[in-house]
Amino acid sequence: MKILVTGGTGFIGSHTVVELLENNYEVVIVDDFSNSKKEVLDNIKKITNKSFSFYKGNVKDEEMLSLVFEKENIDAVIHFAGFKAIGESVDNPLMYYENNIDTTISLCKVMDKYNCHKLIFSSTATVYDVNDELPLKEDFPKGTTNPYSSTKLMIERILKDLYVSNNDWSIVVLRYFNPIGAHESGLIGENPQGIPNNLMPYILKVAIGELECLTVFGNDYDTKDGTGVRDYIHVVDLAKGHIKAIDYLTNKGIDYFNLGTGVGYSVLDIVNTFESVNGIKINYKIGKRRSGDIAEYYADSSKAEKLLGFKVTKTIEDMCKDSYNYILKNK
Ligand code: UD1
Repeated sequence: MKILVTGGTGFIGSHTVVELLENNYEVVIVDDFSNSKKEVLDNIKKITNKSFSFYKGNVKDEEMLSLVFEKENIDAVIHFAGFKAIGESVDNPLMYYENNIDTTISLCKVMDKYNCHKLIFSSTATVYDVNDELPLKEDFPKGTTNPYSSTKLMIERILKDLYVSNNDWSIVVLRYFNPIGAHESGLIGENPQGIPNNLMPYILKVAIGELECLTVFGNDYDTKDGTGVRDYIHVVDLAKGHIKAIDYLTNKGIDYFNLGTGVGYSVLDIVNTFESVNGIKINYKIGKRRSGDIAEYYADSSKAEKLLGFKVTKTIEDMCKDSYNYILKNK
């Protein structure tokens, strides 16, 4: 089976490509390196010792995409390509709406033209309403607070309309919680440019001395230790979820799955675990709450477990160890 992976050199995309190759899928990647580096391609080869096709380009480019579908016999698509920084989306909403939505529309048009109707779409846990009860279930009310999350929710709706218009489509929407960690080889992982916004990338920069001190955004939340609680999932477990989702594409329709662990960890849990498994001290100070943050969220992943056979195998210790191993090798 041949799978087209858009955004296949990104953080989640690259780990998914590795899992696909290791499970003997044929892989075609389309990526424009807008938020990744071309070395990722070599590193995927090093890890898997397998080959795949690569096309440099933007998924918005229907001509280029048509060429890919013309040359390759694509059976299904995993669509990662998109912008993903919440803060940037608040500053540049039009760029986000244009990029994330246009790429998906172009992709679906070309897929339809080539009679390929199997699609896995990368969505986010931030499509849920902040007032929802916990743990979050797939059918809970939706409500977004920033343009990035709105693009994901809009795309979910576009895909639903697409299925209603043509029942040949099989679409799986995966809502990710907080992916961290890295491949155990240390060859692929997440290393954002500049000052990171997210917790683990920030801890890593403090760990290697590039930044002095982590600011914990608030310790007065109504959580076990007052700091924010999230459902962190190892990126390799997340990638494996996509392999399970491919099997589910034999069902026609559109369906939605949370990919999380179902367990919430606080900021201080992460700092303490990181310190103990890596034998290193992380300087931190308590600061003010970050605007837009909520106290706590975590997934109910039972639907993915039951229908996809999805099961996480990695612990929070693995996540902290593998993240540190990656940054040490990629300083
Ligand atoms: C964010 C995105 C989410 C994305 C995820 C990637 C929002 C609303 N959501 O989630 O779409 O999938 O990143 O992992 O932005 N924290 C600190 N100090 C820091 C950075 C973070 O204390 O320097 C705290 C935050 O307040 C939060 C927790 O760490 O409690 C996790 O934050 P972060 O990694 O940014 O993820 P989210 O905000 O949950």
